[in-house]
Amino acid sequence: MSELRFDDRVAIVTGAGGGLGREHALTLAARGAKVVVNDLGGSVDGSGAGAASPADKVVEEIKALGGEAVANYDSVTDGEKIVQTAIDAWGRVDIVVNNAGILRDKSFAKMENADWDLVYEVHLKGAQRVTKAAWPYMLEQKYGRVIMTASAAGIYGNFGQANYSAAKLGLHGFAQTLAEEGRAKGIHVNTIAPIAKSRLTVGILPEQFIDALKPEFVSPLVAWLCHENCDQTKGLFEVGAGYMAQVRWERNKGNSFPIDKELTPDMVANRWNKITSFEGENEHPSDTNAAVGAILNNIMNPSLGGNEFIDLDLAMKAEASGENSYDERDLAIYALGVGAAAADPLDEKELAQVYENSSDGFKALPTYAAMPGMNYMLQQMKEGKDLLEGLNYGFDRVLHGEQYTEIKQTLKPCAKLTHTYKVKAVYDKDPHAVVVTSTTTTDENGVEVAYNENATFVRGAGGFGGERGPSGSINVAPEREPDAVITETVPVEQGLLYRLSGDWNPLHADPKFAKAFGYDKPILHGMCTYGYCGRHIVKAFCDNDPRFVKSIKVRFAESVFPGETLETRMWKEDGKIIFETHIKDRNLVAIKNAAVELFDELPVEVEAPAEATAEAGDQLIAEDLFTALAQHVAANPELVGKVDTTFQFNVSNPDSQWYVDLKSGEGKVEAGVLDKPDVTLGVSEENLIGMLTGQADAQQLYFGGKLEVSGNVAASNNLGPALEGMDPGLIEAAKAARLKS
Ligand code: NAI
Repeated sequence: MSELRFDDRVAIVTGAGGGLGREHALTLAARGAKVVVNDLGGSVDGSGAGAASPADKVVEEIKALGGEAVANYDSVTDGEKIVQTAIDAWGRVDIVVNNAGILRDKSFAKMENADWDLVYEVHLKGAQRVTKAAWPYMLEQKYGRVIMTASAAGIYGNFGQANYSAAKLGLHGFAQTLAEEGRAKGIHVNTIAPIAKSRLTVGILPEQFIDALKPEFVSPLVAWLCHENCDQTKGLFEVGAGYMAQVRWERNKGNSFPIDKELTPDMVANRWNKITSFEGENEHPSDTNAAVGAILNNIMNPSLGGNEFIDLDLAMKAEASGENSYDERDLAIYALGVGAAAADPLDEKELAQVYENSSDGFKALPTYAAMPGMNYMLQQMKEGKDLLEGLNYGFDRVLHGEQYTEIKQTLKPCAKLTHTYKVKAVYDKDPHAVVVTSTTTTDENGVEVAYNENATFVRGAGGFGGERGPSGSINVAPEREPDAVITETVPVEQGLLYRLSGDWNPLHADPKFAKAFGYDKPILHGMCTYGYCGRHIVKAFCDNDPRFVKSIKVRFAESVFPGETLETRMWKEDGKIIFETHIKDRNLVAIKNAAVELFDELPVEVEAPAEATAEAGDQLIAEDLFTALAQHVAANPELVGKVDTTFQFNVSNPDSQWYVDLKSGEGKVEAGVLDKPDVTLGVSEENLIGMLTGQADAQQLYFGGKLEVSGNVAASNNLGPALEGMDPGLIEAAKAARLKS
């Protein structure tokens, strides 16, 4: 390996009369650098300056080893004189090692202003003055290497060193900006936080270690950072006793609050865990742009807010999926679990709900359409896995509030299913919250089998200033006498039977557990009561043929105990069956605001859709988007006043240019270039299509460098309102029209 050389380079090392500075000077000189050995020759605390001997001694040492050096005895606060020494001797300066330093350690209470001022003067002002004088030469020659000497005390703090810590971290901040300003000029600026034996540290560092802390173990890092081959700039390095490591800032993911609502100290207190937690992946911004990105991000894409239980930003984007299957046995156990086949004599059609060889053909109860999706979710919870990101509450906080099940396909006797979960809405019922999740269930062919919505009441998770959600009651039972009533006593063991269908919560089985939750005995699963009333509708209005049920929606109002008698009151109203289920024993309503929709005719089974065959040339192109957007604008002239922005789109790959003028006349969307648009967006056709069809996130593209925004960057936010309510069908129609013509 060839030696790293500094021939023809001129270096200034301040405070080089002893300690670390001497070693830096010797190292650089030994490898060919011409060195200005600066030292004021004062004492540790900066007093008694003026001795020439320390600098002279080091110059002699260098010369004795065949190197070139000159001495300088000025204080670093007279930096220009030190630089002048280099210029006078060799006409240039390539390297500045700001090393001079003193200590005036005292607890802050005892520290005089003079102690503060002098430490600041030598370290921070001194480094500034020397670097300031050398900087024009470095700019001119487009080359320079600057080292700042900081300290662990500055990075981490140290008792008795308030003055020193402030100055030392100040040097790092100083270096950060110089590194940016020098970047394009070939000037690299780095900072070291060394530990070494010197007169500053003898008596401070532990004696058993002091001899191992040789300055010779620090100078090689300084020399490398000062070498022309070293690309490093803006670094901060801890170094000592043969160890060296780069240090960087770490920032956690943080918390973003909404910007359209009042921010209160209580909200800050509420999110304190998130603001301070370093768990998970963190960020390491290395420049101000990257650092401020998170803040701009919250302006461009404001946070929805939340609290420690619900992170709305994560939750509203969250999506999860899972698979499971069921067969006749599951259907039969479920049907028995919700009280099917309890009559004597048993109707043949009801037997078909539990018996696979029934002459009527096996028929699944419609309420079972909620079960596989829910079971997968429960299984995940049982395994301690969070299904949907952003929902950070446990089982102990939740109550099943509402359930909606829509049957898209008559349930087959057995099926393999895929469930896709999303958060549909989160309502803030301060102090509680209601979380509505949706589950779309498809079969092996991708055909949708069922859609479920589940509203969960989450105790104590509200109060984040969110929407309260819809108010008023739907499906209210009419005043008149019901059209049908079914009364049925739930057997005492029913909960134990129902749980075999997948909800193993001990609240429904274990008396001790139920007591701990404030119930006299285990309660019936809400979804079991749901199954009971579903069956009652099937019996009263579908002649016991479950296939006629299209949808069921209920609100759970009261828990039922096994052994109680349920009475379902049903009214045929407005094409649906409105119902309520009462607990006769306690004269309470268990289920209300409930309705069932029925199919007029039995649904036809949907065949698996043929594989979509996308032919070449069949894809969307930018033109389709803008044709559709033009139609959208034409249909919504109010957008001009509302959005009040002109957008220029420079599309690449393939290239095309389009503008959207929502500022003048009735608005215009056309191919071409606009004079002085408010905002210009540069994006590839693929990403543009993603953005406008909702497949790609504009903000992610922006921060990933795939969307360039210039002009009035904030005005790019107006694109959202411009596109709001645009019928996605317009884009497909535009494509179809283009392909046809
Ligand atoms: P040192 O006391 O041996 O070296 C500092 C030199 O700076 C002395 O020779 C002194 O005469 C000179 N100096 C003081 N004021 C000056 C001024 N106004 N103008 C010109 N020269 C002046 O101490 P050491 O340990 O070698 O320190 C070197 C640098 O490393 C200092 O900036 C110190 O704060 C820093 N440092 C040292 C650590 C260590 O463990 N030795 C720990 C952290 C930082």
